Amino acid sequence: MERLQKIIAESGVTSRRKAEDLIKEGKVTVNGRVATLGEKASISDEIIVNGKRLAKEDKEYYLLNKPRGVICSKEDKEGRKLITDCIATDKRIYPVGRLDYDTTGAIILTNDGELTNILEHPRNSIERIYYVKVCGLVTKEEKLMLERGIIIDGHKAKAFNVKVKKYDKDSNKSYVRLTLKEGKNHEVKNMFMAIKHPVDKLKREVFAGLTINDLKSGDYRKLTIKEVKRLYALKKED
Ligand code: URA
Repeated sequence: MERLQKIIAESGVTSRRKAEDLIKEGKVTVNGRVATLGEKASISDEIIVNGKRLAKEDKEYYLLNKPRGVICSKEDKEGRKLITDCIATDKRIYPVGRLDYDTTGAIILTNDGELTNILEHPRNSIERIYYVKVCGLVTKEEKLMLERGIIIDGHKAKAFNVKVKKYDKDSNKSYVRLTLKEGKNHEVKNMFMAIKHPVDKLKREVFAGLTINDLKSGDYRKLTIKEVKRLYALKKED
């Protein structure tokens, strides 16, 4: 549910200010009833402005293989490339969660707020699989520490299926694959920093079962209806 004037403005009919005036003038109805300023509605309500029905916004769902050097934000004061610039659409889509500026890999972008809430909510334990290159040799004990959980800012960050895939002696770097089930910002970097292995490179290979194997860096594809339905089904009832 959002403020009516916001829904009207976002549908492109008029500005938010003019939408407020129209509501005050009684020229907006919601489900057949004259609307009042301040009320909330949903895009699925029947909203009529000046006699014209607002079109329901079509939902779009994309899986992007995020390249390095792109920021997951609505705007950037430093003028860096935004994640939404990676996708050619006229819809107001947003990323589900965030990847850091220098992190690559799987990220969903959509204008479906309900699905975004499902995928971002920790209760739903959405799986994120990362492949990470870190400084130093990650030992068995440290692998266990990651799996038992590490307290970061008073919160226990826990990794699953931690596998040290290789250790390169010459560069003194370890390559680790691990799964996380929450979406805390900088979680992987903070976890490895806590065990004194700063992250050198980070890639998210899988998000909610969607892999970027078939996508080159910067490429994207639309999700199928079947995939969207599967993502909705990840919601756990409380
Ligand atoms: N964890 C991080 O530290 N960075 C990301 O981009 C994603 C998860």
